[in-house]
Amino acid sequence: MRHNKFDFSRMDFVIFQTTSPVSVSLSDLLQHSDQKKSTFGMNLNHRKNGIEMKDGVPVSLTFGDVYFSKEGGWEESRYVFWEGNRIPKALSSGSPNVCTVGELGFGTGLNFFVSLEHWLLETNPPSFQFYSLEGFPLPTETLQSLNHSFPGKALWTESLLQSYDKQLQSWKEDPKENVWKCQFLHNNGKTSFDLNLLFGDVKECLVQFPIVDFWYLDGFSPSKNPSMWSEEILSLIGSHSQKGTRLATFTSAGFIRRFLESLGFTIEKQKGFGKKREMITGVLQ
Ligand SMILES: C[S@@+](CC[C@H](N)C(=O)[O-])C[C@H]1O[C@@H](n2cnc3c(N)ncnc32)[C@H](O)[C@@H]1O
Repeated sequence: MRHNKFDFSRMDFVIFQTTSPVSVSLSDLLQHSDQKKSTFGMNLNHRKNGIEMKDGVPVSLTFGDVYFSKEGGWEESRYVFWEGNRIPKALSSGSPNVCTVGELGFGTGLNFFVSLEHWLLETNPPSFQFYSLEGFPLPTETLQSLNHSFPGKALWTESLLQSYDKQLQSWKEDPKENVWKCQFLHNNGKTSFDLNLLFGDVKECLVQFPIVDFWYLDGFSPSKNPSMWSEEILSLIGSHSQKGTRLATFTSAGFIRRFLESLGFTIEKQKGFGKKREMITGVLQ
């Protein structure tokens, strides 16, 4: 297996894909700050695959909703999912050997990159298994636009985009075979952060998830996308959880709160990000 070392937020780590290596070079990262046009033909005003860009934020024309807040997507992701799940506290109180995250809706990958960066900033974190799913994968040029929305952050490198694109080109009907895997090694030389992105419908993908420690429930707003918030999906979240499993989501919709409580989660309402009044977090008793 070929490994490639590069600087990510001034930290060394190694990246490889399990099937074929992803090569990431420093020049890939520098391309972000140079805002160079890539081989994927970036066009910030494109309107393709049911997406349009508004103020640097992708908006789904299919679901009529944004992928992340234009008032600070990076901070929102950290606040709602990383901190909402109390992950910093779990890490500082000697967490288990491996932490498993389960995300509903990979979208632009922003939550993944935010979590990866915070994990890298820890001195000696446990390994992370990051499971996500996506039924409407974004085209590479939209993903690349994320680099322009968050200057200075190392997000979608050319190599990662190529690797993602390659997985999409070989699309398989069976989500078990339709998985994009990447592994990032910590500079402690001991632990890794593994991305497992299952392409397919939420129902088919979620049954493939392992037992999860931290849920990121990020499937557009329930009124705009009920398919991600049905009782069937919430029940699968319950059956892929264990005592102590946490969840966090930007929504505070009453029917979701009540159903999660009926599954055994203790649900807490807390202040939402920015102008949002409320969000919910929970823990399985
Ligand atoms: C709010 S976006 C996720 C944002 C994402 N977490 C990020 O960091 O950019 C919701 C995602 O759920 C996906 N999605 C919606 N309905 C789905 C379904 N039935 N099955 C699988 N994915 C679905 C959408 O394509 C979209 O990418």
